[in-house]
Amino acid sequence: KCPDDFMVSKLLGEDEDSTVVLAQDISTGKQYAIKILDQEKLAHEDKLSQVQKEQHVISRLKHPFFVKLHYTFEDEKRLYFVLSYAKNGELLSYIEANTSLPLECARFYAAELVLALEYLHRLRIIHRDLKPENILLTDDMHIQITDFGTAKLPNDHRSDLKRTTSFVGTAEYVPPELLTTKRSCISSDLWALGCIIYQMLSGKTPFHDDSEYYVFQKIVSRDFRCPVNMDTDAQDLIGKLLVVDPDGRLGSAGLGGFDKLKSHPFFRGINWQGLHLETPPMMG
Ligand code: ADE
Repeated sequence: KCPDDFMVSKLLGEDEDSTVVLAQDISTGKQYAIKILDQEKLAHEDKLSQVQKEQHVISRLKHPFFVKLHYTFEDEKRLYFVLSYAKNGELLSYIEANTSLPLECARFYAAELVLALEYLHRLRIIHRDLKPENILLTDDMHIQITDFGTAKLPNDHRSDLKRTTSFVGTAEYVPPELLTTKRSCISSDLWALGCIIYQMLSGKTPFHDDSEYYVFQKIVSRDFRCPVNMDTDAQDLIGKLLVVDPDGRLGSAGLGGFDKLKSHPFFRGINWQGLHLETPPMMG
């Protein structure tokens, strides 16, 4: 495959390092999201290794809840990643459009996130930037997690320090251990899961505040409160995920791992085996 095999139809997203466009494979008619990176800019800013790592991580993931890397190619100027297209965009826009999600939707998407994290954790991969902007929705409204640019692979000890010196991620989902010890661990994504469940049900992140400084202060002192009208099982689950000690989070290995997390009362009635084949509840 090469750039000439695709017809670009619109811009899907843009950040400082890349542009994502919607494109159609001319010979099959299939739609893809193509992430385009400028080679010269990457080399200049020493970001080539980050991009190679992202490519490496995504190509290892073979699970319906992750964006799939179909092809890669390059020309003199650019790198191209041909990714599966998540037609319904970011989970964040559904939270914002409804100001929060109906309880059954929050439960369903929390459960899909749990299965996605269980898969990642089995591979010993930490996403490290899990948030509703990086959780895309397919045309049948199942999740497709993206953005592995800051993920950490097993035995990759360099990227811990690297990330903290060039920290740009979203402050509100950062786990306390990253702020206090500059290290993340396999349970760091469970903290983000707690933040996301809270956000799906209340419309706000648990540690939101006016400045990054105040957000960090709240995170390290675990200063959050669930709205009184929030489902009590959800409140209990959030309280067991937002634990300062990573080993104390529900889902961590020492606390019974993902089996224990999946048997929390909030997930009562979830069909864990066939979740990706179910019809997701309506967003309302
Ligand atoms: N924006 C960034 N990546 C995308 C993808 N894979 N599908 C849809 N929109 C995107």
